[in-house]
Parts: sequence; structure tokens; C-alpha cells
Amino acid sequence: MKHIALSPGFMFVGVLLLAAAAALASAGATAPKAAHAMASAAGRAAQVERGRYLVTVMGCGDCHTPGYFYGAPDPARMFSGSEMGWRGPWGVTFARNLTPDLDTGLGRWSEDEIVRAFRSGAKKDGSPVLPPMPWQDFSTLTISDAHAIAAYLMSVPAVKHRVPDIVPPGKPYTGAIIEFPPPTAWDAPRGGAPAGAGSK
Ligand code: HEC
Repeated sequence: MKHIALSPGFMFVGVLLLAAAAALASAGATAPKAAHAMASAAGRAAQVERGRYLVTVMGCGDCHTPGYFYGAPDPARMFSGSEMGWRGPWGVTFARNLTPDLDTGLGRWSEDEIVRAFRSGAKKDGSPVLPPMPWQDFSTLTISDAHAIAAYLMSVPAVKHRVPDIVPPGKPYTGAIIEFPPPTAWDAPRGGAPAGAGSK
């Protein structure tokens, strides 16, 4: 049997080749990862943009952005909630802070919980989303459009603003409110109302 004697020089080249191969292998592994990250960042940006469009044409800011009721929505406080109460048989409700603020907004809600609230009428704690939040209209949103809205809401600047708590029916409240008068026979609910919030 013939023995091959490896010279130190030959071994050195071999080590270099091994190092180069390892470097190539790791570059091969990170390049697709980087491309994937870029693609998903672009996808997220497109999703947020779709959400911005939907939220605008669906008029979420009408109730949830201060100033809207008085003809001057404040762009610096978009979706930070309103202190104008809506009084009806449900008590007094306030359009809530939808910005990602951790303590006063939706910052601790998951995207799925936000979607459930405006698409199925159930809050994070399972309680019903009360009038006049028109969630029944939004229950026909496709899941991808609903998630685009939630993604957009999570992208707006967080505004710290605590909206007043719900006032139960019959309890006094002295702040600014719009009061719904008792309905005429025509407007009175005739059993066509949804069976219950969160049922979808
Ligand atoms: C006509 C007024 C009005 C419009 C328009 C409106 N909302 Fe609301 N929304 C409310 C009110 C009032 C509440 C609070 C209901 C309650 O306290 O039970 C609310 C509650 C919510 C909640 C639950 C938040 C929480 O902290 O409990 C979410 C999420 C929400 N709205 C999202 C939206 C989105 C998204 C849109 C547009 C697609 C929208 N709303 C349009 C009035 C409105």
C-alpha cells in the first residue's frame, strides 16, 4: 500500500478550503433568511397601509378620534378615544382609546382580541361591545381585512388617554353626553337585533 505524505503546506491549503466552505455555507443560510425578513416587512407594510385605508373609509375615527364630532379631528390624537358619552338603554358608553398605549389603549390586547372586538362584539374580557359601536356592520369583514385594521391600529402612535368607564343604566352622569330619546314605534327593536354580542 502506498502512503501519501501530506506536507505542512498542503495541509494549510486544506484548512483554508475548509474555512471557505464553512463561510459559504453560513452565507447560504443567512441570505434566504434576510430575504424572507425583507419580504415579510414589505408584506406587513402593505397590510398596515390596507388597514389605514379601511379605517379611514369605515369612519372609525368619527367616534374614536377627539374633535370629529365638532368638525375638527385632531391628527395628533388619532384614535385616542372620546369623552363624549352616548346614553341609551345600555347606560353611558364612550368610544375607547384604540391606540397601542399599554395602560389606557389596546397595547395589551393581541391582534386576535382586537379583531374579535370589532368583528364579533366581544371585548378582551368577553363582555359585550355596547352601542353605538357598529360592530354588526364590521362582522362581514374578511379575516384578512380585519387583521389589516388591527395591524394598522397597532402602528399608530400610542396616546395616553383614559376614557371614562361605562356608566350602568340608571346611574347618574354629569359629563358631556348625547342622549338617545326613547324610540318611536318604527325605530323600536322588533326582535331583529342579534342574539347576543360575541355570538359570531
Ligand atoms: C358610532 C361610533 C363608533 C364608530 C363609528 C366606531 N366605534 Fe368602536 N366603539 C364605539 C364605542 C361607543 C365603544 C365602546 C363600547 C363599550 O364600552 O361597550 C367602542 C368600542 C370599540 C372597541 C373595543 C375597545 C375596548 O377597549 O373595549 C374596538 C376594538 C373598536 N371600538 C374598534 C372600532 C373600529 C376598528 C372601528 C371602525 C372600523 C370603530 N370602532 C368604529 C363607538 C364607535
